[in-house]
Amino acid sequence: MGYEILYKKELCQNQYEIKVKAPFITKNAKAGQFIILRTDKNSERIPLTIADCDKQNEILTIVYMAVGYTTKKLASLDVGDCIEDIVGPLGVPTHIEKYGTVICVAGGYGAAPCYLIAKAFKEAGNKVHMVMGARTKDLIFWEDKMKNAVSELHITTDDGTYGTKGFTTDVTKKIIDTQKVDYVIAVGPMPMMRAVAELTRPYKIKTEASMNPIMVDGTGMCGACRLTVGGKVKFACVDGPDFDAHLIDFDEVINRTKIYKDEEKRCDETKCNLIKKGIELEKTGVSNGRN
Ligand SMILES: Cc1cc2nc3c(=O)[nH]c(=O)nc-3n(C[C@H](O)[C@H](O)[C@H](O)COP(=O)(O)OP(=O)(O)OC[C@H]3O[C@@H](n4cnc5c(N)ncnc54)[C@H](O)[C@@H]3O)c2cc1C
Ligand code: FES
Repeated sequence: MGYEILYKKELCQNQYEIKVKAPFITKNAKAGQFIILRTDKNSERIPLTIADCDKQNEILTIVYMAVGYTTKKLASLDVGDCIEDIVGPLGVPTHIEKYGTVICVAGGYGAAPCYLIAKAFKEAGNKVHMVMGARTKDLIFWEDKMKNAVSELHITTDDGTYGTKGFTTDVTKKIIDTQKVDYVIAVGPMPMMRAVAELTRPYKIKTEASMNPIMVDGTGMCGACRLTVGGKVKFACVDGPDFDAHLIDFDEVINRTKIYKDEEKRCDETKCNLIKKGIELEKTGVSNGRN
């Protein structure tokens, strides 16, 4: 059974969009929430943001970067294959209200998770700037889709091959310096979200970051996603994923995401090699460091 993949597209190198029919999830999903899936019955559980949601046709869209064993396993599935299970929607939805002018800053895989958030802010009557950054032109996706959802789309590339040369924070600063900005949300790699927080701090602009620490159960029970916000312990899966970016202890949470780096590398190399050789993992007894 499971969730049959109805659509799959390689958006750019190593980043994929897939669609599945998921009535219970799409019925309740809101911007900023995520799901946790297992590719197969022996898989670890990985969290991915709800990138788009067609409530009428009950179609859930997720966009992911194939960075390690499980996301590569997911990328190896094709249309017609099934994902073992998907749990969601999880997490507190992004708080949407009419602030005035909003900037959504999205870096790397963050562009897709930011789409529904930006769209919801626009629908609430805000002027929405989307600042979408990538290393290079080939890694930019969903440009037209994003343009239709926001008031102004700004693209940055580190190497200047498309849009403005530089980082998302450079363009965000230019916007802040030329108009009154009421709210900023950052979605993407943690160093980028920290940089956005440091940029807006002196301007005293309310800023939130959609945090992506390691998650296991997604229900507040295991403690894997623990982070410190304003000196208090929070669990990103049930208290977040969005938190006041000026209060997050980024050093702690960035260090925690590296805890299993060696195991992840070993697991990725070992399991991917076994899969390439066509050897069944169950027969080898190889397990993920976290399982
Ligand atoms: C709320 C949330 C939403 C996310 N949304 C997206 C998304 O929409 N698209 C996307 O591409 N990625 C998203 N991620 C990150 C994604 O979950 C990880 O890339 C994935 O779990 C990596 O697993 P792996 O086995 O392929 O790689 P691994 O080699 O196991 O890990 C690669 C890196 O991914 C991170 N990671 C590993 N396991 C987990 C885990 N269980 N939970 C969270 N992070 C982990 C670690 O930083 C690690 O160093 C999200 C994470 C969170 C917490
Ligand atoms: S993922 Fe286990 S407590 Fe959040």
